[in-house]
Parts: sequence; structure tokens; C-alpha cells
Amino acid sequence: MQADRKKRTPSIPLKHYGWIVVGVWTLVAAASLGWNLLQDRDEALRVARNIALTNYARDVLYRRWAAAHGGVYVPVTPNTPPTPYLAQLPERDIVTPSGRRLTLLNPAYMTRQVYELAQESGQPQGHLTSLKPLRPQNAPDPWEKKALQAFEHGAEEVSEVVSLNGQPSMRLMRPFRIDLSCLTCHEEQGYKGD
Ligand code: HEC
Repeated sequence: MQADRKKRTPSIPLKHYGWIVVGVWTLVAAASLGWNLLQDRDEALRVARNIALTNYARDVLYRRWAAAHGGVYVPVTPNTPPTPYLAQLPERDIVTPSGRRLTLLNPAYMTRQVYELAQESGQPQGHLTSLKPLRPQNAPDPWEKKALQAFEHGAEEVSEVVSLNGQPSMRLMRPFRIDLSCLTCHEEQGYKGD
């Protein structure tokens, strides 16, 4: 399938394939370390982009791990309430034999909590977003929106140095495409599978 797609790419616009860019992962890696240490601007940019890409790849891997397990059960706490987006699942909430309440986190819920921790501890931050988010609070900011629109026109990556809290920071975003496995939960957004 992949090969077919490649063969036809030059003549057929992306949107005709029946699969759509949905989601995107955006990552802000604080690049000031490279920035200040390195005189050479190109080299600083290359280092910053590599830091962002490494973080991105690791985040996607952990998300895949969670997805491969069909989500993960964690204890219910005030910071981790059951998600309304999985309310249709009969076993979203379960109780262990000793009475502990557990709830199922979908991968996007998990990564969102990790990024909240990253923000508190000043680590590279990420955001999973979409032009048609399932969860309205996941909506893109203006920079992300522009990048998402570029992905709809075939771009594979958008990156730029922006000012974040007065520090030059590398912002990098890549598309995350819908396949059939996503539709169980994302069908109502009108996406079509591969
Ligand atoms: C088990 C259900 C489930 C599956 C399967 C699933 N998602 Fe999601 N996804 C969700 C839920 C629920 C949210 C919103 C949750 C949140 O942020 O807490 C979400 C959020 C997202 C977001 C952030 C924007 C938004 O819509 O809120 C993206 C992007 C996304 N998913 C992409 C994907 C892709 C791509 C796949 C397949 C590779 C996928 N998802 C598979 C349930 C799922």
C-alpha cells in the first residue's frame, strides 16, 4: 500500500487518498543551551532540531506502547478522573479485589499528563493537537494551526525558532496520520481510514 501511494504521489494531490492528516505532535525544546554555547547559528539550529526530534521520537514510542496495550489502567485521583471520552467502554472503570478504583487512560490522556509534568519541571514540552480536536481543549494555538494547514498540503515537518519566555526555543511539529486503528475512537470527527 505504501509503495502504491509513493508511486502515485506526484500526480494525485494528498487529499484524494481518503486519508487525512489529523493530529500532530508539536514539541518545544528549549534550545537556549545550544544557542548560547555555540557561536555558529546553523550549528545551533541543527543541535536544537536534533534535541526536538529525539524528544519527539521517544514520545511517539511511549504513546505506541500505551496504544499497543489498549490504554493503561491507573488509580483514580483528583488529578486523574475517569475520562468522559471513554464513557462508552463497559470497563473504563474497574475495582481491584481490595477495593481500589482504577480507570483506563487512552494514550492522548497519558501524554497530556506527562506534558503537564514537563511544564512544571521545565523539560521539553509537547502537545498533541488537531484542527478538529475530539477534546476541545486540545485545539491548536496560532502557530500550530498554521503548521496543521501546511500538513494538509503535504508538508512533513514544520520547525522554527520562536521566543518562549524571552528565550529562543526550537519549535518542531510533525503529522500523525489516521489509520484504521484510530477510528474506534475518532470516527465521529469524519476521518476516513487508510
Ligand atoms: C481508545 C480510543 C482512542 C484511540 C484508539 C485513538 N485515540 Fe486519539 N484520542 C482519544 C481521546 C479520548 C482523545 C482526547 C483525550 C485527551 O486529550 O484526554 C484523543 C486525542 C487525540 C489527539 C489530540 C486532538 C484531539 O482530537 O483531541 C490526536 C491528534 C489523536 N488523538 C490522534 C490519534 C491517532 C492518530 C490515533 C491512531 C493512531 C488515535 N488517536 C487513536 C482516543 C483514542
